[in-house]
Amino acid sequence: MKTILINAGQLVTCSGFGPKSGAEAMNRLGIIEGGAVVMEDGLITAVGTTKELLPRHRDAEVLDCAGKAVLPGFVDSHTHFIFGGYRAEEFSWRLRGVSYMEIMERGGGINATVKPTRDASEDELVEEGRKRLDSMLAFGVTTVEGKSGYGLDTENELKQLRAMARLQKEHPLDVVPTFMGAHAVPDEYRGRTGEYVDYIIREMLPAAAGLAEFCDVFCEARVFETEDSRRLLQAARSRGMKLKLHADEIVPIGGTELAAELSALSADHLLHASDLGIRRLAEEGVVATLLPATAFSLKEPYARGRYMIDQGCAVALASDYNPGSCFSNSIPLLFALATIYMGLTIEEAVTALTINGAAAVDRADRAGSIDPGKKADLVVLRYPDYHFLNYHFAVNIVETVIKEGRVAYQA
Ligand code: NIG
Ligand code: FE
Repeated sequence: MKTILINAGQLVTCSGFGPKSGAEAMNRLGIIEGGAVVMEDGLITAVGTTKELLPRHRDAEVLDCAGKAVLPGFVDSHTHFIFGGYRAEEFSWRLRGVSYMEIMERGGGINATVKPTRDASEDELVEEGRKRLDSMLAFGVTTVEGKSGYGLDTENELKQLRAMARLQKEHPLDVVPTFMGAHAVPDEYRGRTGEYVDYIIREMLPAAAGLAEFCDVFCEARVFETEDSRRLLQAARSRGMKLKLHADEIVPIGGTELAAELSALSADHLLHASDLGIRRLAEEGVVATLLPATAFSLKEPYARGRYMIDQGCAVALASDYNPGSCFSNSIPLLFALATIYMGLTIEEAVTALTINGAAAVDRADRAGSIDPGKKADLVVLRYPDYHFLNYHFAVNIVETVIKEGRVAYQA
């Protein structure tokens, strides 16, 4: 099947095949006015102006995007979208002043999602997951990373990973699976963190290695300290997994520096990352993945996005969609928070949600930009200019989503 998209008011290509670091690169969006994209068998085969491409592709089906801006599909590179149950009461507790970590220490938080996730069948996780992916697609997301981490034993962690593998086959979105057995210490190992890490390394990692591409850890004071995190991630790497860290979210314990030391693909959250840690991320080319909707929901200070970019980091933005700290998969909210509170330009925010998000999940060779050879994953806005992404704040302005050359969503 061959399609040509024509007359895009702005074709925002975000052109590139790797992470973009620093302000100059992140502000360069590679815009073509009156742009056209040729798509064949799910891939982009040509990009240029309508004038130059239309005469050469008269045989293609035409999609006219006059008066609309067209961007690469968004990449939500950090979510926990496979889970059972909900924790609405925690949101009210936090509004009354109880902190996220206090709730966790009282047996709420991540551990409160473990029982309903263990009780759910794989089919139930798939069905709920499918609805969540549908909602993401409507926001223009075409690639999503998803983490296990609510099973916290071999059987249930694998169940979460298998649910994601099924959704990868059955749903148009691309799902990148991450193993996160070190998300919390389960009740049966309470007070025995070291033994739990031993169990992960001995049993869970070998079983998860075939199903998960990444390994992530909640590297946090009183959860998995840096020493346990290092030990676990080194073991994961020796099994061929790529690395991610939840780093310096609540208390600065050097998780950012650890991500650089281990050359992780990304370090995420970073609300309390040190100057040294930020410099090390830039030096090692670790993507700094910022999750401003979580800071918003927890009433925590935002990560220093502006400073990170000015220090030469490649910054990505993601939702952190999960049932506790951030029960939202809103992309418009991310554009608003990043530009209003973290000091990013709208161009940097677009780069952060496209090519840099793709780099954070090691997909910059096939997703995150409108370049020949990449997947034909495109978002059509109902306005002619990408500036509407934050100007029309908190509103979903996505009109059409094309996934691998086919219309997968239409408003
Ligand atoms: O990224 N901080 C650890 N993990 C998630 C929260 C998961 C949950 O609360 O269920 C996060 O914020
Ligand atoms: Fe997270």
